[in-house]
Amino acid sequence: MSVPVTLTTSPKQKPAADSLGFGKFFTDHMFVLDYSSAKGWHDGRIIPYEPISLDPASKVFHYGQAIFEGLKAYITVDGEALLFRPDRNFARLNHSAERLCIPAIDEQQALEALKQLVEVDRAWIPTEAGTSLYIRPFIIATEADLGVDESTEYKFIIIMSPSGSYYAEGINPVKIMVEKKYVRAVVGGTGEAKTSGNYASSLISSKEAHEQGYSQTLWLDGKENKYVEEVGSMNIFFKINGTVVTPELTGSILPGITRDSMIQVLKHKNIPIEERHIAIDEVIDAHTNGTLEEVFGTGTAAVISPVGRLLWEGEELVINNEEIGDVSQLLYDTLTGIQSGKINDDFNWTIRL
Ligand code: COI
Repeated sequence: MSVPVTLTTSPKQKPAADSLGFGKFFTDHMFVLDYSSAKGWHDGRIIPYEPISLDPASKVFHYGQAIFEGLKAYITVDGEALLFRPDRNFARLNHSAERLCIPAIDEQQALEALKQLVEVDRAWIPTEAGTSLYIRPFIIATEADLGVDESTEYKFIIIMSPSGSYYAEGINPVKIMVEKKYVRAVVGGTGEAKTSGNYASSLISSKEAHEQGYSQTLWLDGKENKYVEEVGSMNIFFKINGTVVTPELTGSILPGITRDSMIQVLKHKNIPIEERHIAIDEVIDAHTNGTLEEVFGTGTAAVISPVGRLLWEGEELVINNEEIGDVSQLLYDTLTGIQSGKINDDFNWTIRL
């Protein structure tokens, strides 16, 4: 079922591919769906991209009842538009919604609305290598009421942004700082949900990392400050002595869709992969004894991002001579190959419009 579309009367100029960066420009249209306890989710529509007007007492401003997703649309080598595993994003959005007492959306209808939106703004999908249309669905609590309880009104909005690399380094290795002072999440908290608050509380750490010349923070577990969890915008993988290891999902780690996809690719290629607890000490020991072969992150925005330097307790570990490792390169080529249609999608991950 399609939603009504109001087209813009003043289309914007599209940015040049080399000026894109990440999340700086927005397409001409957006999708909006409202919720009230009387009507449920209703009035889905595609309208010109515009500021939204909210009551200053809206709960989102005070109690942070907000969740979001990130996914991408691509133009394939044969000129078709495709989405990468959008069903997983809407499933995860509902998982986050449950954690923050936000009413579930209809995943199938959200996907249909997204396809329609991408179709309307199809000309905004950049085609240059390394670029894509980053899609940001989000839900905010809009009831004007300062009581600390769940909102009775919400907005579900999808906006889209033609984007290049998330990191200025592109696929070149980034520098990451292991965080010791702050924690991101604990089991039972909101770590495995994609809530805006998780990112708000991480900002101080990324700010301090940036001040020291590092792109982001590698978080340890919030209880023992011992086990590796994830990086600010990506899940993390280590290749130690031929085996790829990534932290298992214990309840405080975001279940990344790229993470899941890359685990499946590794299994498919018969590269040993383990999901388990991995202590930061094991990583340091592996570096000391020369078996830490690669470190890389995975994420929708970050794609596959090799880590070239890791700062831990004032000491900097240089990984793989700050070069892109074989497994990182293989995963990058496979993922971007599927997304660009250059490689057959044996996993059935892509949805063509
Ligand atoms: C994504 O990879 O889509 C993310 O949500 C990470 C970040 C940009 C918040």
